[in-house]
Amino acid sequence: MRILHVAAEIYPLVKTGGLADVVAALPPALAKRGLDVRVLLPGFPGILDGMVDLKPLLRIGPLFGAAVVTFCIGRLPDSGLPAYVIDAPFLFRRDGNPYVGPDGQDWNDNHRRFALLAWAAAHLASAEIDPEWRPDIVHAHDWHAGLVPVYIAQNPALHTATVLTVHNLAFRGIFPLDSNAELGLPARKLTPLGVEFHGKISFMKAGLVYSNRITTVSPTYAREIRTAEFGCGLEGVLRDRGGELSGILNGVDYGVWKPDDPLIAKPYSAENLKGKKACKLALQTELGLAKTADRPLFAVVSRLTSQKGMDLLLAALPELLREGAQLAVLGSGDGDLEAGFKYAAAANPETVAVRIGYDEALSHRFMAGADVLLVPSRFEPCGLTQLYALRYGTLPLVRRVGGLADTVIDATTDNLAADRATGFVFGEATRLALGARISEASALYRDPEVWRRVQRRGMLQDFSWDDSAANYEALYRSLQTVGEKAGLATA
Ligand code: ADP
Ligand code: GLC
Repeated sequence: MRILHVAAEIYPLVKTGGLADVVAALPPALAKRGLDVRVLLPGFPGILDGMVDLKPLLRIGPLFGAAVVTFCIGRLPDSGLPAYVIDAPFLFRRDGNPYVGPDGQDWNDNHRRFALLAWAAAHLASAEIDPEWRPDIVHAHDWHAGLVPVYIAQNPALHTATVLTVHNLAFRGIFPLDSNAELGLPARKLTPLGVEFHGKISFMKAGLVYSNRITTVSPTYAREIRTAEFGCGLEGVLRDRGGELSGILNGVDYGVWKPDDPLIAKPYSAENLKGKKACKLALQTELGLAKTADRPLFAVVSRLTSQKGMDLLLAALPELLREGAQLAVLGSGDGDLEAGFKYAAAANPETVAVRIGYDEALSHRFMAGADVLLVPSRFEPCGLTQLYALRYGTLPLVRRVGGLADTVIDATTDNLAADRATGFVFGEATRLALGARISEASALYRDPEVWRRVQRRGMLQDFSWDDSAANYEALYRSLQTVGEKAGLATA
């Protein structure tokens, strides 16, 4: 079975969030199961620089505003899997983020940039780009690849099945209706039953309507997005397609995230946690925090946004300080949240430290050095950092939503007694609920024996990609049924 994954990010070449980690790890996990897997990526500078043996396959143009586009094939640096790269200098060779310019605004030609990604997928499906390899299934990730199922459905000669994975429904890829002319979508698709979303075009909606199967990255989020609270206006489509929608939990690449990784101060393991103390001391030293072992060190590694509940954390900070705990924050995002954390650090130099920016190596030192990782999200499709924290014996403190609810077992009296607990979970998205759980976590920290038990239980959890890859394979196999395409939306 030949599977093409289509995505805008891949660790370590281009990463703005968890999507990159998933796109780096899932294809090799599928390949390990014997599937013939390739990846299609836009030619951002980081991708062009990082690929191995990149060779041109086809040069054409003009296309989506680019005078010349060169479709290339090469190998991914870590997994060695084959990957197609779209080298369209005018559209993709730009500094900074894949989605936004240096001014923090979306690139104004994003509709064309990501339509080209989908166009390439459809032309790989028809073997026009690479006559030697034609996918049976094209697996599109997030709105960036949302037009993939549309372009594939538009070619009646194709019987390629499509899967769309929703990593974050809040990003819907919305563009003016009149960008349609440049996208090559027929007028009959510009209705609420097609790609239209409140008088505009939504790439995410397009993917939801036209793909054969929809997945998202945790079972709980798969249920949540059918409701108005989490559905971002797309809950109706998701309910209509409920029979084809499922949640498959993300995994962790334990080759990268492990308590003996080369990026941390001292290796340790579930059997011997001594090295973790050294990691905490090293992190406190690096961040200029008071070097104390008897106060819990809470940490954040996150985009600083309202999705991640970072405003709740700022509001709950007095509670954390009252407990005598420390807080270390690594992240970047909304200006007001960045400013709020910077102000808190300036006011409490020995207890609060903030590093604004994106730093992969430092994120490992945070995971290893902290006692608690805070993920108080308003919504969380899966969340990866709580899974990384578990492996480092850092207790996650999370809100009961999405993938967080599916992966952290709350330290209730019953769960502690049964030696099941792996972290702390709170319900309401309020400062009070978060503050209360921070206090309770601080209290538990004062009982080292129980704390160590919860750490060990967490470190033994297995969220490796094996199970998820098996679930995706089962989904792909279910799509091989002849006539599957007959069930496709044809609006
Ligand atoms: P999301 O994709 O919604 O941002 P995830 O938890 O799925 O959330 O993934 C976030 C990924 O980005 C993780 O690999 C995390 O370690 C990483 N990350 C987030 N912020 C930073 C940062 N400031 N520096 C380094 N890594 C970060
Ligand atoms: C999104 C989600 C996050 C998820 C990641 C990878 O960025 O916000 O919860 O873990 O995608 O699927």
